[in-house]
Amino acid sequence: IIFEDSSTASKSVAKEIAALIRAKQITKESCVLGLATGSTPKSLYAELVRMHREEGLSFRNVITFNLDEYYPMEPDSIHSYVRFMKELLLDQIDILPENCHIPDGTLPKEEISDYCAGYEAKIKAVGGIDLQILGIGGNGHIGFNESGSLQNSRTRLVALDHITRVAAAKEFSGLNNTPRTAITLGIQKIMEAKRVILMAWGEGKANIIRAAVEGEVTTKVPASFLQGHANAIFVVDREASKFL
Ligand code: GLP
Repeated sequence: IIFEDSSTASKSVAKEIAALIRAKQITKESCVLGLATGSTPKSLYAELVRMHREEGLSFRNVITFNLDEYYPMEPDSIHSYVRFMKELLLDQIDILPENCHIPDGTLPKEEISDYCAGYEAKIKAVGGIDLQILGIGGNGHIGFNESGSLQNSRTRLVALDHITRVAAAKEFSGLNNTPRTAITLGIQKIMEAKRVILMAWGEGKANIIRAAVEGEVTTKVPASFLQGHANAIFVVDREASKFL
């Protein structure tokens, strides 16, 4: 779906999320959301916070699983995705803290693999992800599933691509301070989500959006796997759609 600008697009996605949350409230079910970080979903989170404050949208029945976290990373660091999510969404709404899950960047290395299996088990225990929100990296990564990630990849510790680290370097004030690894939800769990919405804004994403939507399905562009998902949409602004 192509929108004129990212603000209109984000409002439309927020409306869909709100409708899903409210529908699940009527049937007294939990609404399981997969959430992303990066600059792309910021306007979506702002709109959800506004709907909570001004329209009484409650998140009491919502359970969230974030895609990824840098490793190593302390939760109170200004760079952590925990902090990002709290500031932009989770601390601004009435969601129960115990319902919010973000990969733990503080674990000893030898515990990560069991932890990742546990993270997937928690998703399974609540019936899977109802709606997964995604951004896209300049190289086509989703979460931190970099080029080369397999369609059945599991939640794991990954090495970040040079191009991903360069993109993040300005926030970390230089490449040397930028983490080399991260924990990410695997592509398998993203593909198992009942619905997926990938969002992208701006001319800088136009090339990779074309590759992901119209190019061959390839591990080189992990977002291209979504072509095989039965209920995935790309929500883009005019600029990001320019090569479609
Ligand atoms: C990071 C995140 C991704 C995100 C990507 C794009 O790599 N781990 O989930 O999609 O950045 O970021 P942005 O939205 O800032 O372009």
